[in-house]
Amino acid sequence: VAVPGRLPGSPPPRGCRPAAMEGTGRPRGCSAGGPAFQAPRPSSSRAFLAGLLWGMKGRTDPVRPLSMGLRASTFLGVTDIPLMLRSPFAPACADLAVMAEPARTKRILVTGGSGLVGRAIEKVVADGARQPDEEWIFVSSKDADLTNAAETRALFEKHRPTHVIHLAAMVGGLFKNIKYNLDFWRKNVHINDNVLHSAYECGVQKVVSCLSTCIFPDRTTYPIDETMIHNGPPHSSNFGYSYAKRMIDVQNRGYFEQHGCRFTAVIPTNVFGPHDNYSIEDGHVLPGLIHKVYLAKQRGAALTVWGTGTPRRQFIYSLDLARLFLWVLREYDEVEPIILSVGEDDEVSIREAAECIVKAMDFQGELLFDTTKSDGQFKKTASNSKLKRYLPDFKFTPFEQAVKETCNWFCSNYDIARK
Ligand SMILES: NC(=O)c1ccc[n+]([C@@H]2O[C@H](COP(=O)([O-])OP(=O)(O)OC[C@H]3O[C@@H](n4cnc5c(N)ncnc54)[C@H](OP(=O)(O)O)[C@@H]3O)[C@@H](O)[C@H]2O)c1
Repeated sequence: VAVPGRLPGSPPPRGCRPAAMEGTGRPRGCSAGGPAFQAPRPSSSRAFLAGLLWGMKGRTDPVRPLSMGLRASTFLGVTDIPLMLRSPFAPACADLAVMAEPARTKRILVTGGSGLVGRAIEKVVADGARQPDEEWIFVSSKDADLTNAAETRALFEKHRPTHVIHLAAMVGGLFKNIKYNLDFWRKNVHINDNVLHSAYECGVQKVVSCLSTCIFPDRTTYPIDETMIHNGPPHSSNFGYSYAKRMIDVQNRGYFEQHGCRFTAVIPTNVFGPHDNYSIEDGHVLPGLIHKVYLAKQRGAALTVWGTGTPRRQFIYSLDLARLFLWVLREYDEVEPIILSVGEDDEVSIREAAECIVKAMDFQGELLFDTTKSDGQFKKTASNSKLKRYLPDFKFTPFEQAVKETCNWFCSNYDIARK
């Protein structure tokens, strides 16, 4: 059975798009700036049969072939499979995900929806970025403990998402990472495996997970790019978090090669913004500094920055990251991850970041550096060339403005802020 796309024979290489979508003259997966590209649609029976035959290879039971038939049809946008062909063998959740939806409704589940990045996506969606065919569902650990496989599966069966933005993770700054490397590894590996496998079992069309530039090798050349994730050990301070995050990339590749799933990941640099974790002990450097400046100002004390102040970082405002997440979800078609970052020239030292906060909060006191504290990785300068190839006109909020907005948010929400 010859079907346009990738179904017959062995799976295609990573990041490959259906043959019918090639030759559009745009970067792969990019439709920014032009009309959305519509792949020709095969008939339901051809798509279903191709998936069925592919799934039958080496199998005697009917479940996988039928499931693959359904996945093939779903991936190619065909939703009119006769009900009698779907039950009782196909997984219940995959069945529902395809049948209960009008053909083009996207139900987008955001794990980690109560965190810094999740709240930013929620705001951007609420402020007008939502498209008419999209339904957004934001969940937190109160909805399900994603380290638990049964709870994760139940969450997916309840919401039956067609798309997932996967943000939930054990997250923390340098000092929390140093103390709890094992916990970072175990919790995040469990969360990621449960989410990705539930997404696969429930026939989710696309998952966008979240890596981080701190997972790259410690000893490396600069700038870091997307091809370098697995090139050497990460910095020893956060090896647990880093290896767990790297495995998402391994899993995305596996789900694509074995099952044809479009699971991908983004790699943001240091994120900051409203709803961050402003804990001085456990949070990231920028929100921790904002909290310290707030307290120093109240107490009329000096501001003590931990470390030498010389390490360099690229900071991305959570609302900019949120806008980029929407683009990745809707337009980016590669399985390979993409770095979401400001340019290399926008990298700042910790001292410069502290001075920016001092200015934003009008702090008049002394600035000190406690050099007995660890600096962490000196720098992790990332290239945003791939992003710029796709979105050459994307405008980041200027760092000073974003810091000012974040400080204002923290001061106005001091009582409810995480800290
Ligand atoms: N912040 C950064 O600088 C940065 C940089 C690069 C990448 N990232 C990545 O971006 C993503 C979002 O980070 P963030 O800064 O927004 O984190 P965050 O503010 O700490 O939020 C973490 C989110 O994960 C949820 N969560 C944690 N454990 C969970 C569990 N066992 N079950 C279900 N939900 C759980 C939390 O729910 P509750 O609120 O209920 O606890 C919360 O919604 C993460 O994957 C992180 O690795 C962050």
